[in-house]
Amino acid sequence: MSDAVTASVGAPSTRSRPLPPMAMLAELTHRCPLACPYCSNPIDLTKANEELATEEWIGVFEQAAHLGVLHLHLSGGEPAARRDLVELTQAAVSFGLYSNLITSGVGLTEARINSLADVGLDHIQLSIQGVSPEGADRIGGYKGGYERKIAVARWTTDAGIPLTLNAVCHRQNMSEIDAMIDLAIRLKARRIEVATVQFHGWAERNKAALMPTREQVERATEIVAEARVKYQGVLVIDYVPADYYSSYPKACMGGWGRVGLNVTPSGRVLPCHAAETIPGLSFETVRDRSLAEIWYEGEAFNAYRGEGWMPEPCRSCEHKKVDFGGCRCQAMALAGDARATDPVCIRSPLREHLTRETERLSATASAELVYRGR
Ligand code: SF4
Ligand code: FES
Repeated sequence: MSDAVTASVGAPSTRSRPLPPMAMLAELTHRCPLACPYCSNPIDLTKANEELATEEWIGVFEQAAHLGVLHLHLSGGEPAARRDLVELTQAAVSFGLYSNLITSGVGLTEARINSLADVGLDHIQLSIQGVSPEGADRIGGYKGGYERKIAVARWTTDAGIPLTLNAVCHRQNMSEIDAMIDLAIRLKARRIEVATVQFHGWAERNKAALMPTREQVERATEIVAEARVKYQGVLVIDYVPADYYSSYPKACMGGWGRVGLNVTPSGRVLPCHAAETIPGLSFETVRDRSLAEIWYEGEAFNAYRGEGWMPEPCRSCEHKKVDFGGCRCQAMALAGDARATDPVCIRSPLREHLTRETERLSATASAELVYRGR
């Protein structure tokens, strides 16, 4: 961490100084060839002509490294839609950042992957939508996507870049979790992340079509537990269970303004992916203020940082050290109040209603997928 940067910012006078962020998600672009119905990007996407230019992104990466960020996730949209992806990666690596490319694979060629390896890309996280061309391409809304992903996985491991498969699971593909884990083994991935769909952004429109059933969620948990034993030492399996069926919320973002930040394609700096759904917060951009100032002093970052904002029952609850009060965006979406107890929590007055609504949605027989619009 650079003392020169942080010392010039000054700490808020009424609270102890936050630690610097460890991770930054750089949403390089919202452009994307796929049309996944579970897309968590906002309804209103940033246009190509509003995106940060190459030099602006490089400046953000340099500031991030000085601020203390260790992990840089290059994401989107589809980050391969940026022609300067190799140049951006090279810059990130030169600042000592661990670089992880989060990609659908569409837009990557073998030559481009080799170039990324040459400039030192540390890791690729490749999304999969299913285990067959028909099923995966139907969910991704992109014909030929599955075959391209298989090729990208091979080029990645051939280039010596560690590979993680990222499988977003929902009612329409949850029966394939064991096959997805087998696919990860065949593709020589070191890790698979099995993440149950979150209903932020566009995905909210597909709740009825994607909400898993309780039986599916319980079976998925069993399959993951069995596979972790079977593939111990071979494949790391990360699992994000369906919090709508849990008793406690997830520690979203590891706590608001605590360990990570997001930068949108146009440079707005957010405490989390969906923070712009919370009315009344104002978000600053790297075009107007330094990353360090926004992290330490920004109104949005301090709105739900720490425990001071918490109402009861969170305020006197021991579990707040584990979940940091859950997800503010979920509280906004489900309770209409970002300060409310996350409705997933068994102590929330809305929990029973949420359970009934989850079961109603998961039993919806004929909901059509609403594909991501561009
Ligand atoms: Fe977490 Fe608040 Fe529920 Fe406690 S009351 S478990 S802190 S959401
Ligand atoms: Fe914003 Fe959870 S997505 S706090």
